[in-house]
Amino acid sequence: MSNMIFFLVMLFSTTVTSHSVDGNDITLKEEFELERHLKLINKPPIRSIETEFGYIVDCVDIKTQPAFDHPLLKNHKLQIRPSFYSKNEKTNLNISSTKTRFGSDIVDCPKGSVPIRRTTKEDLIRAKILLNNNTLVKRKAHRAEVYVSGRHYYGVRGTTSVYKPECSINQASMSNAYVRNGEGGALNKISVGWHVFPHIYGNDRTYAYATWTSDGYVKTGCYNLQCQGFVQIHSKYHIGVPLQPVSVYGGDIYEMPVAIYQDAKSKNWWLSIFGETIGYYPQELFNNLKEAVQVGWGGSTIAMGDPSPKMGSGYFPDKNFKHACYFLNIGYKNATNSQYYGPNYSEAKGFHDVPECFGVEYYGRQESPYGYCLQFGGPGGKCDY
Ligand SMILES: *[C@@H]1O[C@H](CO)[C@@H](O)[C@H](O)[C@H]1NC(C)=O
Ligand SMILES: *[C@@H]1O[C@H](CO)[C@@H](O)[C@H](O)[C@H]1NC(C)=O
Ligand SMILES: *[C@@H]1O[C@H](CO)[C@@H](O)[C@H](O)[C@H]1NC(C)=O
Ligand SMILES: *[C@@H]1O[C@H](CO)[C@@H](O)[C@H](O)[C@H]1NC(C)=O
Repeated sequence: MSNMIFFLVMLFSTTVTSHSVDGNDITLKEEFELERHLKLINKPPIRSIETEFGYIVDCVDIKTQPAFDHPLLKNHKLQIRPSFYSKNEKTNLNISSTKTRFGSDIVDCPKGSVPIRRTTKEDLIRAKILLNNNTLVKRKAHRAEVYVSGRHYYGVRGTTSVYKPECSINQASMSNAYVRNGEGGALNKISVGWHVFPHIYGNDRTYAYATWTSDGYVKTGCYNLQCQGFVQIHSKYHIGVPLQPVSVYGGDIYEMPVAIYQDAKSKNWWLSIFGETIGYYPQELFNNLKEAVQVGWGGSTIAMGDPSPKMGSGYFPDKNFKHACYFLNIGYKNATNSQYYGPNYSEAKGFHDVPECFGVEYYGRQESPYGYCLQFGGPGGKCDY
């Protein structure tokens, strides 16, 4: 586990001490460590499915899935379904005739088991190389988003268009919605959306992902199911799957509805993607997320040494939803069982740190099917000089 956690620590720390280890070579001892580590993360499968995308999904007993190895979840009571479904969790938009699905219906686990993407030795080696790569000290992150803050929020939703911004092994680009509370080491945050992140997957496809932290990514935090925390419930759809096809600027647009919302009874934070209830982050994981004080929608990029990759479609907002990447039908909940409310102009705030590289525009409420909506993105490049 520690490898993955370190990987993320390094990834998200802004002040990184440089590592002198020059280690792309894996020694026999390390090889042994990796094998031992893999046995801990990968649970004995009830069934294994080799996907067409070159990774293996294990169907694992829902009650002994990796999440429950987390020390904070020793006494956790498994929640099989949310105590309350809001029909607003689903957005049935029709911007394009076909919708991006979870990389086709690749998996269907037997009753009582859930799909967990298997972590491979290569995944761990990539994490190790990243850890040892001095370019990390030059890590730069950028963000362009709309957010609301200052009240208590219990849910966020929106439908984003899905793209595949080119990324080198030293770059990542994403679109997400999030709930958060706290700053610095007290940051508690859950994000869900799509990203291109070659360092995680070993290729530059677009993937559905979710991530969390309870300490500003210092010791906690990881993507998908690469560390314990997320409780998978859906028997078919899991985070960490490739999304295809992706949108083409000016052409067909494929989109992805997402939502994060707190269960009124258990206080667990549920994730919904494409209107499907995927699973949840147990409330025990967090120390500062009884409610969120900020929720937002937008894009980010990460670059380690290289210039910043594109964000979204690579184009600035221009109010043409076939051009820049968007979030439509955005909303927040201000009570666990409330409906979703779209932010009005005065409460929605825009943030972008390098206006010459990335932009964001909030359009407020537009006619159906757009709803409350925004665009974000831009070409990236040398944003830091
Ligand atoms: C969605 O698309 C289908 C088929 O293209 C069409 O029949 C339907 O009217 C559309 N619905 C909306 C809300 O645009
Ligand atoms: C490590 O850093 C070098 C630049 O110093 C870069 O060329 C290389 O791609 C990086 N390797 C990985 C795996 O990130
Ligand atoms: C939630 O927000 C909506 C829209 O601003 C408002 O009408 C409603 O009274 C709020 N409800 C609570 C419980 O704060
Ligand atoms: C916008 O929303 C906030 C919070 O719900 C509310 O206090 C404010 O009155 C609203 N402003 C307008 C112009 O509707």
